[in-house]
Amino acid sequence: MSAVLQEPDGGALVVEQLSLSFGGIHVLQEIGMTLRAGQITGLIGPNGAGKTSFFNCLTGLYAPQVGAIRFGGRRLERVPPAGRAALGFSRSFQHVALCPELSIAENVMIGLHRLSGAGWLDAILPLARGRAERRAHRSQAVAALHRLGIADVADAMPAQLPPGVLRLAEIARATVGAPRVLLLDEPAAGLNSVETHDLAQALKTLRSPQLVLVVVEHDMDLIMEVCDQIHVLNVGRVLACGTPAQVRANPEVVRVYLGDDDV
Ligand SMILES: Nc1ncnc2c1ncn2[C@@H]1O[C@H](COP(=O)(O)OP(=O)(O)OP(=O)(O)O)[C@@H](O)[C@H]1O
Ligand SMILES: [Mg+2]
Repeated sequence: MSAVLQEPDGGALVVEQLSLSFGGIHVLQEIGMTLRAGQITGLIGPNGAGKTSFFNCLTGLYAPQVGAIRFGGRRLERVPPAGRAALGFSRSFQHVALCPELSIAENVMIGLHRLSGAGWLDAILPLARGRAERRAHRSQAVAALHRLGIADVADAMPAQLPPGVLRLAEIARATVGAPRVLLLDEPAAGLNSVETHDLAQALKTLRSPQLVLVVVEHDMDLIMEVCDQIHVLNVGRVLACGTPAQVRANPEVVRVYLGDDDV
């Protein structure tokens, strides 16, 4: 039996009865889902459905009032964001969030800070104690860029590059530390169809038995192409879940989100 299958919950991230509200506004209500290792899981739903808030609950940025989040046999509700990062949680954001003053490789190296002995500042500044680590981190960053097919931009600055490459660089930063849980929030936002196609190919290469990979996305062609399972959120509740074919054929999902044109 593989190492992952022997882990509690088979390496899955398990969410039970999770509810989040701000004042009187119910943002998430009784969310339950099992996000499996080895699969790409899609999370879709209309604007304001609660997708980003759900990611924020998983990473510890938001504190849900009710519910359980379990990973590797541990309850995570009281684990702060840094603790969850140390357990292998990593994410990308809805808007491109690269540091404009750093090269692409340096931006990717920031993704290694949780593994750093010298501290993240030493990883990007040429201080003596950080020099050896910096060299090692740079090769890991270039390797991560290489896996996504963009090693040639390692020394470019973000302002010189098109959106598709910047998105891949963000994914390189999120993956360079070999995460166990990777949450990507609208990675195709702002990309043209060629860039979206390249992104889909890159996402498929990330599928791995040790990784829980969750993608929030409005681009249905991308979601249907890359995902094994899809969960649909609507006004803070799980509306449906299943394979891409099951979700596409669900009349409720068509009514509230996909519309007749997409089926
Ligand atoms: N910190 C907050 N305080 C108050 N309300 C919030 C907060 N964060 C999110 N919300 C509300 O929660 C709801 C869900 O927002 P969220 O950003 O999670 O949706 P989403 O599904 O990611 O939407 P989109 O597809 O537009 O990105 C919205 O009504 C939003 O205003
Ligand atoms: Mg969002």
